[in-house]
Formats: sequence, C-alpha cells, structure tokens
Amino acid sequence: MKKLWGGRFTKSAEQWVDEFGASISFDQELVEEDIQGSLAHVTMLGKCGILLEDEVETIKQGLHVLLEKAKKQELAYTAAYEDIHLNLEKMLIDEIGPVGGKLHTGRSRNDQVATDMHLYLRKHVQEIITLINELQDAIIKQAEVNVETIVPGYTHLQRAQPISFAHHLLAYYWMLERDKERFTESLKRINISPLGAGALAGTTFPIDRHYTAGLLGFEGIYENSIDAVSDRDFIVEFLSNSSMTMMHLSRLCEELILWSSQEFGFVEIDDRFATGSSIMPQKKNPDMAELIRGKTGRVYGNLFGLLTVLKGTPLAYNKDMQEDKEGMFDTAQTLTGSLKIFSGMINTLTVNSEAMSKATKQDFSNATELADYLASKGLPFRDAHEIVGKLVLQCIEKGIFLLDLPLEDYQEASHLFGEDIYKVLDPYNAINRRNIAGGTGFSEIKKVLVNIKNKNK
Ligand code: ARG
Repeated sequence: MKKLWGGRFTKSAEQWVDEFGASISFDQELVEEDIQGSLAHVTMLGKCGILLEDEVETIKQGLHVLLEKAKKQELAYTAAYEDIHLNLEKMLIDEIGPVGGKLHTGRSRNDQVATDMHLYLRKHVQEIITLINELQDAIIKQAEVNVETIVPGYTHLQRAQPISFAHHLLAYYWMLERDKERFTESLKRINISPLGAGALAGTTFPIDRHYTAGLLGFEGIYENSIDAVSDRDFIVEFLSNSSMTMMHLSRLCEELILWSSQEFGFVEIDDRFATGSSIMPQKKNPDMAELIRGKTGRVYGNLFGLLTVLKGTPLAYNKDMQEDKEGMFDTAQTLTGSLKIFSGMINTLTVNSEAMSKATKQDFSNATELADYLASKGLPFRDAHEIVGKLVLQCIEKGIFLLDLPLEDYQEASHLFGEDIYKVLDPYNAINRRNIAGGTGFSEIKKVLVNIKNKNK
C-alpha cells in the first residue's frame, strides 16, 4: 500500500514491521480530538487565504462525515497507515478527493499529535475534577451523620486517641481537595496550543496560531515551536497528579478493607461493591477496594514509564514519544473508574457506630487524657506521662481498663487525681474537649462541615 509519505522510498516495509511501528491500535482513542484539531486548522487556512473558501468547505464537510462515522464507530482503521492522523487523512482523501491532501498544509503530525493530547487531557482532567468533587460530597454526607460516632484513632496501627469518625473521614476530604487543586492548576499548562509549530520550526505559510488556539478553546499558544512539539511535561504532570490521587484512594481502600474485616467490624461495604467466593459460601470480599489499591500500582507504573521514555530524548520529536499514549489513556480510564466506584462505595457504606464506640471503651486510647489532666494541675507533662504509663501497666496486669481502676489506686499514684477523672476518661468527653482549630472536637467538626459544604457546591 502506498504510504502518504512514500515519495523518497524505494522499498516498503513488511507488514509486521508496519504493525510494530503503528500506533493506530491505541491512538484511535484520539479520533474526535484529531478531527476537532483539523477543523480548526482548515478554518484558519481559509481565513488566512492559504486555501480557497470552497476548498475549506469541502474539507470541512469531509471531516464532518468522518466525525459522524467515528461516533458510530464505522471507521475502518489500518496499520498500513500507521496512526490516527494518517488514517484520517487517507479517509478524507478517499471521501472528497485530492483536495483532502491540502489539509496538511502548514502542519506536521508532530504539532497535530501534541494538539490532540492537549485536547484529550483537558476533557479528562475536567471530568476528573468533577468526579473528585462528587467523592468529596459523598465523604461530607457520611461525615455529617457520623460527627458523634466515636472511634479509636490510630498511629502505628495501634490505638492512639479516641476521635470522631467524621474527623477521620474528613482527612480524606482535604487530601482530595489538594488533588483537585493540583488538577485545576495543571489545566493552565494543558490548555495551551502547540498547533502551528509544524515539525519543529514553524512554517513558511502565513498561518495564525492564535486563531486556531481560540477556535479550540485554548488559552494561549506555546511560545517556542521546538518546545511545543517536544513537551510532554503536561502528561507527566497528569500522571503524577493521578498517582497522588490513587495513592490517597489506596490508603482509604486499605482502611475500608481493615474496617470491614471481622476483626474490626467497623463498617460494611454494600453488596453492590463486594463479591463472594466461589468456594467459601460465607465470604464477602471487599474486591473493589482491593482492586483500586492494586490499580494504584499500574498508575505509578505509567508515571515511571513515561519519565523513563522521555529521559535522554533529544529535541525535538522522536518516535519514542509515541509511547506517551497508552499510559495516559490507561491512567485516565483507571482514575475515572476508581473515583466513580469510590463515590458509590462511600455513599452506600454502612457504619457500625456501636462497634466503633465499643472499641474505644476497651482500650487505652484515653490514657493521654489522664496525663493531660495531671499536667493541667501543674505537674510537668513528662512526670504525668510516667505516672499514667505505670497506671496503664497496672491495668494491663489486672486485665482491666483505665475506667475500671478504683479511685484509691489513682490517688495512690498521685494526690492530684480527683473523682472527676472518670468524666475526663470518657472517650466522648475526650473528643468534646478538643475543640481547637483543626481538632476532632464535635463543634469544631460541625463548623468545618458548614464551611466545606459551601465550598464544594
Ligand atoms: N503516531 C505518532 C505519535 O504518536 C504521531 C507523530 C508522528 N510523527 C512523526 N514524525 N513520525 O507519536
């Protein structure tokens, strides 16, 4: 088959070599972006007097026919035409005749493919921002009904201090808020146009890059044509931002998996997001949470893959860069899917507040309260710590908890202890007394909830 670039060749590659070099099996994902870019380009060629108006009209009509076919998945791609750009150009020529060959005037596949990727990421990043927002809404909803749900807070996965379950959930709200900020900020670098940079050096045709940028909704153009076609930072940044979000989701996955185990019994994942075992009839596995935790690995892989592809590639375009696509598509799809699943999982999560609260009564997570109590009566905190540590040991030896220890034992340890320690030791009071900014105190959480609900609208 004659190549669109075949002029200077005397031999043709064997089919399997063509297939190895082709990207059409995956870059067909960019079909709509590619046509969108071509429509803007050809409109500009007309406006700048580079093509005649009727040529422009014919090309546009042809492109619209291809767009309709693409939407109906009626285009038949072939590896013989390597990639989405050449496949479409060939189809256009077949559709409207040799005038189709004028579309590529003043353009190269190098600026064309970069344009497609910018358009693709703009669309997906906007969707991701919306999905993060929806997940935050789900978190807020769960937090609202769980302000007074008391649960042990952990450090080192050892019970540390009692906290409100809402406070714990809201930590994820804030992680996602930073993620959203990062994605939003990245749009500044995604939403600029490489179109018109040509292969690397611009073009002799009197094109108008600002005009095509405007037609495509870009906020500006790359100021350097070499940078325009060599830059893949915006994709690396996307993969990095996505890795961070996946890492956040993965941490929550781990918690959901732990909490839904029989050992914890803190939450139940809805049947719609769990699966059974083919052999053990009693099983209900938190598959979706595990899978998202697992998929985090491949998103990191995509980030490292692209960084490694780019390392050491000289300016400007190199074929290596064709390897930038699959990881990007895969990441967009993985992150989008994970966020959707997560919203569903959080919205339908059953919280076992009784089990949570029971746990706080069967541990020593109220020990800090006692140390603070002594310190507030003037004892140096370090000494208070020592005394309470000994009391904890005493309880462990007796097989009881701090609330069960008689007052005499407390007073023997320190005369500063009074009857009121039992109130102080109560996990509810322990939380209620932490109304400092950013703390787990109930009224503080309620205040935060009002603010973030307004913010997330
Ligand atoms: N399929 C190519 C890619 O994705 C398009 C750009 C090709 N440019 C070239 N000079 N061979 O990278």
